[in-house]
Amino acid sequence: MGHSRINLSCMRPTEKYIRDNLENFKDEICEFLRIPSISTSPEHLQEMRKASDWLKSKMEDSGLEAEIYETPGNPVVLGKSLKAGDSAPTVLVYGHYDVQPPEPLDLWISPPFEPEIRDGRLYARGASDDKGQLYLHLKAAEAFLKGADNLPVNLIVLAEGEEEVGSPNLLPFIEKHSEQLACDIVVISDTGMLAPGIPSVLCSLRGLAYFDVEVKGPSSDLHSGIYGGPVVNPALALAHILAGLQDSKGKVTIEGFYDDLLDWGPQVKKQINDLPFNQQELEEFIDADLCGGETEFSILERLWTRPTCEINGLNSGYTGDGAKTVLPSRAQAKVSFRLVPDQTPQRIDELFRKHVDKVTPRGVEVTIKQLHGGMPWRAQLSDQLTNAVNSALKKIFNKRAVVAGDGGSIPIVRDLENLLDSPVLLLGFSYPGCNLHAPNEWFPVESIENGIRTIAHLYQEISLMDEIC
Ligand code: BES
Ligand code: MN
Ligand code: MN
Repeated sequence: MGHSRINLSCMRPTEKYIRDNLENFKDEICEFLRIPSISTSPEHLQEMRKASDWLKSKMEDSGLEAEIYETPGNPVVLGKSLKAGDSAPTVLVYGHYDVQPPEPLDLWISPPFEPEIRDGRLYARGASDDKGQLYLHLKAAEAFLKGADNLPVNLIVLAEGEEEVGSPNLLPFIEKHSEQLACDIVVISDTGMLAPGIPSVLCSLRGLAYFDVEVKGPSSDLHSGIYGGPVVNPALALAHILAGLQDSKGKVTIEGFYDDLLDWGPQVKKQINDLPFNQQELEEFIDADLCGGETEFSILERLWTRPTCEINGLNSGYTGDGAKTVLPSRAQAKVSFRLVPDQTPQRIDELFRKHVDKVTPRGVEVTIKQLHGGMPWRAQLSDQLTNAVNSALKKIFNKRAVVAGDGGSIPIVRDLENLLDSPVLLLGFSYPGCNLHAPNEWFPVESIENGIRTIAHLYQEISLMDEIC
């Protein structure tokens, strides 16, 4: 691959195309971000379609052949340019065009689907996660195809509309179309940089097991004075179950929870703790003290290498103004666990149910549903690939990438790696504090240019590699 070819191509026309069109790119990202492609609620089906149609037509404008594939859920959009020929490597780009719900709306300074640039930040839901970043790849391809009439790699862009709900229909799609999706490397920009100016390649993601927990008591709300005491309060029962999930040392108390953990080894530990990480800066970014969890591990180790239990939502009884003496008939919680290798969502499901069974008080009934799950992921990047990324980054950031982990999850990563038998490169351009999933999500305006240029150079460097892994 690429071995017999000489590097005759020059990046100048591609670079010029990016420079000349930067303002259009910004306008176009905003067009994309104006579509409220929220995958979590069925009310937005039309908007999901609109976003997938928009993507298809933009892929075509960029010079890719594009097609929309129906799934039982939101459509998959596939764009392709295979003109580089059999001797050139094939890059598969994965991204998602769905976004998280924007609520609470009153906390947004400008409305979530009316993109606005303030102080070098592009504010909108999906700006970083992931519409803005997916868009960068289209433009990098376009810069070659339109600016230089030559894309040095074969490119497949796979965009889904269900990442934020656990990618329920993507795995069957990949299995069904695995021949069409055959590639030498997968590139994903759906993560961030360790800090502004410090480009980062990820080598690990945590997995996820997400549950709905419902505690049922009496079939109707009751007067808490007339019945309180002998009737078990479902909200208290739930509070009891939840409070017992973690001990005072930050350990998850579920029996067997830590059994499948792989040792990361002293070398990786050192590599993580040698990274230029500024705790105070992160605390200021997110306005929170980083004092929770397993304090015998460093902050980055806790975030990247340790499993956790989180309560994502709680609901029961009376929460309006004033007081109401009610004994609620039910209580509900959303509970999730972040997983690390070799934990699996299936095993955690078993252990969690067994644990809850054991600690549930008499008089209430608990129903647990797993809503979605994703496997944790760790990669070993080949020297070849690391060199290719670093050559690309050198030209834009004048720096090598730091190899980092991340605590978030992208459920399909492990499947892409396994099914397509290709290494996955996670190279993202958002910054800490970009408010992913939160009010006032933003993407650094400088990352639009830096991202497109880096990706273009990366494609170029990949085309020159002898072997991918
Ligand atoms: N892009 C994020 C994951 C992410 C962000 C990983 C930053 C690393 C750094 C992705 O869209 C996401 O939000 N994933 C969800 C899981 C999904 C099943 C809802 C998550 O991590 O909670
Ligand atoms: Mn994402
Ligand atoms: Mn997300």
